[in-house]
Amino acid sequence: MVLSRILEVADLKVEFRTYRGVVKALNGVSFNVDKGEVFGLAGETGSGKSVTGLAIQRLLPGNAVIVEGRIVFDGRDLLSLKEDEMNKIRGKEITAVFQDPHTYLNPVFTMREQFRDILLTNDREIASIKDKREIEKAVHDRIIQMLTEVQMPAPERVIKMYPHELSGGMKQRMMLAMAFSLRPKLIIADEPTTALDVTIQAQVLELMKSLQKKYGTSVILITHDLGVIAETCSRIGVMYAGRIVETGTVDSVYSEPLHPYTQGLMRALPRADKDLKVESIGGSVPDLVDLPTGCPFHPRCSRAMEICRKINPRTLNIDGRIVECHLYDGETSRGRVA
Ligand SMILES: Nc1ncnc2c1ncn2[C@@H]1O[C@H](COP(=O)(O)OP(=O)(O)OP(=O)(O)O)[C@@H](O)[C@H]1O
Ligand SMILES: [Mg+2]
Repeated sequence: MVLSRILEVADLKVEFRTYRGVVKALNGVSFNVDKGEVFGLAGETGSGKSVTGLAIQRLLPGNAVIVEGRIVFDGRDLLSLKEDEMNKIRGKEITAVFQDPHTYLNPVFTMREQFRDILLTNDREIASIKDKREIEKAVHDRIIQMLTEVQMPAPERVIKMYPHELSGGMKQRMMLAMAFSLRPKLIIADEPTTALDVTIQAQVLELMKSLQKKYGTSVILITHDLGVIAETCSRIGVMYAGRIVETGTVDSVYSEPLHPYTQGLMRALPRADKDLKVESIGGSVPDLVDLPTGCPFHPRCSRAMEICRKINPRTLNIDGRIVECHLYDGETSRGRVA
């Protein structure tokens, strides 16, 4: 175990039992997150980004089965922990920011009541205070401090509000304040800014980045928006049909995408600096109940060869870049098995 590593996900396979059959949502997902880094998880809708985030928190719905795999967080094997041990990690050492704060915020309690609850349940320092009035003061001070850190306008007034009284941007600031308040080691942010308009989106991302730097928090940023990842992350994993088909630093992947799927996503990205035509990738994501044989991307791939239809590509390591594509395998390529 490398000391600088906070999370290691290895060969994670998740299935959903549904009336249509078995949905193979994750088919061997592997990636690492280092301490203090922002790792971006990209890919089209249905590629398995959210399922990966939920699996790490062990929050998958009841019809999901973790078939195989390992999730090691800060030296602990999460999948072997008992539920009460996992409970001590979830919401404290690993916290989450969701796209829709309504899944998280309760409409019938004020922001102060909800924030107070989080701190009373999870904050060791506050739990160690004996005097009731001192507890309330510590809670209040911490809430105001966190809201000030997320540049919430008029925090004293905002804490008396109910969720519906907050704007979209204010809600996401509140979510960030809550997520960072317990000084977690890892934050899983699933499309945290997708519902916001572009200016607010940039502000919230900027804020997340500055808090993450300040506290040295690791973040998994899940988004289908490659522009957001370019601005926020150091490394990126590109998901397709429940696998990460390419992983590398943002600089290297954006300047020279190797996987034809990543190349397609890049071509679909509007670029101000280049006069390139924006092209979307033809076809659609495969049915996870009935995956194609061979490489799952081959039916949409303009560079597909005979072998792609039959055999799943191996995981190659090309100068530190992880890629799963037959184009780089074999005698003539630079690839070697990762
Ligand atoms: N509860 C469930 N029951 C059955 N299938 C599910 C369930 N939850 C997710 N899936 C399936 O798992 C696959 C991966 O879903 P996931 O939500 O991880 O995609 P995503 O990459 O987050 O997409 P999006 O960008 O739309 O959020 C999808 O095919 C989805 O239909
Ligand atoms: Mg999702």
